[in-house]
Amino acid sequence: MAKTYINELSKFVDKEATITGWLYNKRSSGKMQFLQLRDGTGIVQAVLFKGDADEELFKLCGAIPQESSIKVTGSVRADTRSPGGYELSILKIEVVQEAHDYPITPQSHGADFLLTNRHLWIRSKKQHATLRIRDEVIKSIRDYFYDKDFTLVDAPIFTPAACEGTTTLFEVDYFDDKAYLTQSGQLYMEAACMAFGKAYCFGPTFRAEKSKTKRHLTEFWMVEPEIAYADLNDVMGLSEDFVSYIVQRVLKNRKDEIAVLERDTKILQNVTPPFPRVSYDEAVDMLKKGGIDFKWGGDFGAPDETLISGNFDKPVIVHRFPAQIKAFYMKNDPENNDLALCVDMLAPEGVGEIIGGGQREDDLEILQKKIADHGLPDEAFGWYLDLRKYGSVPHAGFGLGIERMVSWLCGSSHVRETIPFPRMLYRIYP
Ligand code: 4AD
Ligand code: MG
Repeated sequence: MAKTYINELSKFVDKEATITGWLYNKRSSGKMQFLQLRDGTGIVQAVLFKGDADEELFKLCGAIPQESSIKVTGSVRADTRSPGGYELSILKIEVVQEAHDYPITPQSHGADFLLTNRHLWIRSKKQHATLRIRDEVIKSIRDYFYDKDFTLVDAPIFTPAACEGTTTLFEVDYFDDKAYLTQSGQLYMEAACMAFGKAYCFGPTFRAEKSKTKRHLTEFWMVEPEIAYADLNDVMGLSEDFVSYIVQRVLKNRKDEIAVLERDTKILQNVTPPFPRVSYDEAVDMLKKGGIDFKWGGDFGAPDETLISGNFDKPVIVHRFPAQIKAFYMKNDPENNDLALCVDMLAPEGVGEIIGGGQREDDLEILQKKIADHGLPDEAFGWYLDLRKYGSVPHAGFGLGIERMVSWLCGSSHVRETIPFPRMLYRIYP
């Protein structure tokens, strides 16, 4: 019997096929058994009519427990009323392993229980759809940069120094020395863009975030492009083109998953360049007008970002934050030394910051001073300073957090659902 996947059933209409999968759900009407099978590519309903079957097979159908692994052979019918468009009339069933007391039942469960059972929870429809969208996001990122002639340059995970501030570093023993899990591959991409012109890295990054919010993980994935001979304007243009590309690819290629998530796509369809751009100063005015008592010089919190992005129906780019709240590597605005040439992109619908980036300091002496002012150890940055000694040029880039991007696309209530096995404060299991 031809084994097939559920998403290829169209090739087997009016023929027999075998699906190898798991029992997702079932119901019975006394005369009929309805089994919902899943195999990772989709869900199909398999039916058995009592009058058509021998008693043994009918009984077996009613007795198989949820999430048992089964092989079902049946004849395939096109049926517009079925969710996937096809239905299977059961001819034969082989139980591979009978599962008992599967913990995730069709009733609702609390978040903590589901996270503890994450290894099983990813089988559930919405979690499955979310991770399929994550897969499309990742593939679209790789395609985007490949098509634009960026070279993928992997950044290391063990690093000798902080990139994004010393308060969120994970320290590890490195033989007789100390090392830190990377917070960002950016500094290495600055080296890479001087070798390849346009480079990007894409990998896990780590932050010892003590915050328990719906937007923070301690391990998350970031994609970081960096371009030589580029300035702040160039990265603003790249970031809006890039984000638009990802959104439109997901809308085109993951329609079924978006439907499973019941995601309203009106705002997403609208995501095309150009995006609105506002300066930090203008954003602060919006906060004040919106009734928030915000002091110039501070960083935006989640409610501030929600208010600012609420003024727009597309992601908004906020540029030129106060230099004092930004990382050591940022270049100051030549027109106002108190400001940094940096950008944050805020997604609408209360999602907030999805991108952070900007233009880098390219002058050796100024950079040395910034490293000292931030209390960072210069011995760890010798190699980084070399980049300003040997052919320094203006350069710029940004980082997009994958989980926040997927969370926005899926309309998830928490980023923890957008990564297969989330790592958070107080959670490192499973
Ligand atoms: O704004 P961040 O800290 O920027 C950097 O790390 C730069 N070095 C990137 C660069 O210019 N190459 O982080 C970038 C993005 C954020 O906008 C957010 O989307 C995501 O990374 N992010 C997190 N996502 C989940 N959990 C966390 N704890 C995150 N911290 C940052
Ligand atoms: Mg940031």
